[in-house]
Amino acid sequence: MSSVVVGVGGGIAAYKVASLVRLFTEAGHDVTVVPTRAALQFVGEPTWAALSGNPVSTEVWDRVHQVNHVAVGQRADLIVVAPATADLMGRAAAGLADDLLTATLLTATCPVVLAPAMHTEMWTHPATAANVDTLRQRGVTVLEPDSGRLTGADSGPGRLPEVEVIFRQALGLLTAPDLAGVSVLVTAGGTREPIDPVRFLGNRSSGKQGYALAAAAARRGAAVTLISANTALPAPAGVDVVPVETAAQLAHEVHSHATKTDIVAMAAAVADFRPTDVSGVKLKKDSAAEPDSISLIRNPDILVDLVARRRSDQTVVGFAAETGDEAAEVVEYGRKKLAAKGCDLLVVNDVSGGEVFDRHENQIIILDRRGGEEHYARSDKSVIADQIWDAVLRYRSAD
Ligand code: CTP
Repeated sequence: MSSVVVGVGGGIAAYKVASLVRLFTEAGHDVTVVPTRAALQFVGEPTWAALSGNPVSTEVWDRVHQVNHVAVGQRADLIVVAPATADLMGRAAAGLADDLLTATLLTATCPVVLAPAMHTEMWTHPATAANVDTLRQRGVTVLEPDSGRLTGADSGPGRLPEVEVIFRQALGLLTAPDLAGVSVLVTAGGTREPIDPVRFLGNRSSGKQGYALAAAAARRGAAVTLISANTALPAPAGVDVVPVETAAQLAHEVHSHATKTDIVAMAAAVADFRPTDVSGVKLKKDSAAEPDSISLIRNPDILVDLVARRRSDQTVVGFAAETGDEAAEVVEYGRKKLAAKGCDLLVVNDVSGGEVFDRHENQIIILDRRGGEEHYARSDKSVIADQIWDAVLRYRSAD
């Protein structure tokens, strides 16, 4: 049984947090709910006390003889804050301690998860973005809010992530660091192949799944290097990020880091082809240099080269975005790709309809060289990341 603090911010989504408290208590954890004063405007103290079975305080002045403002944070194995409002994250980022929840955050040394919920304008405001960056750099897990209908008629990013997602993410932080002592190399994003100084051939990969993998591995204790091709995502806490642009740069970095790593996960979308000639000047229309076609040559297959050079104790994970057609199912294409690439595991996702790119959710099948095939339910990319590491660890331990 762990001691879990559920902090509740002053937002309408506070009512959903009642079921989060339930999930923790049903899983056998000792839950202390610490609402802000504003949170009590939405859900009252008796609800939190009844659901948690513990006394509820909002102020540092309550139960002063127990030095409550220090004790709650020190005792906690995990703190989950939902909904994390813009104001609450601002106070936490600034290191304020003007109520019991912020004081608890300031005294805690355990993992902290913040699940934001607010209007889109507040979430995208540079002040909030800067606070989120600061908190993430300090090792706080700030979940991405969901997109959809908000309190009023408006919709956009700012909905509280599903309570089950918050719960599973938070539980992941309580688990043993099962990747401690393991070095991991992850690639993420999509390569860009220049045509001229301003144009390139690219692809739709956002890098979100690769970033989630790197963040999860770091959280589980691995030493993580993330080679990132053209993403706009903040560096996950504790991860060494190496930015690259082209497939050639990605290949160079992968091969130079891979010799020192136990597990390589090639989540990046690598361009198979690049323009044969890159113009040094911008190609202008109605000029002698106006192209009527672009000739392409093949890029080396980094994954295949990696497998050819790998140590016997290294695990190599490939990724495949496939679309099924009349000729074959996604799994069949995946099996063929696994054999062609020679990697240990292949994470296959069905991208028919383009429903994966730049989304927070993903749905995968993991195939392995020994014939294993596991289908997973559609989930948040952070949940998928942990499922992938679980599968990799199972594969390695069966060696
Ligand atoms: N990959 C790679 N180098 C390349 C192309 C792909 O390392 N030049 C890796 C990707 O990072 C991914 C896996 O290979 O882990 C599968 O990528 P995918 O684009 O699906 O494979 P392709 O070989 O390009 O197959 P297809 O012909 O279906 O595009």
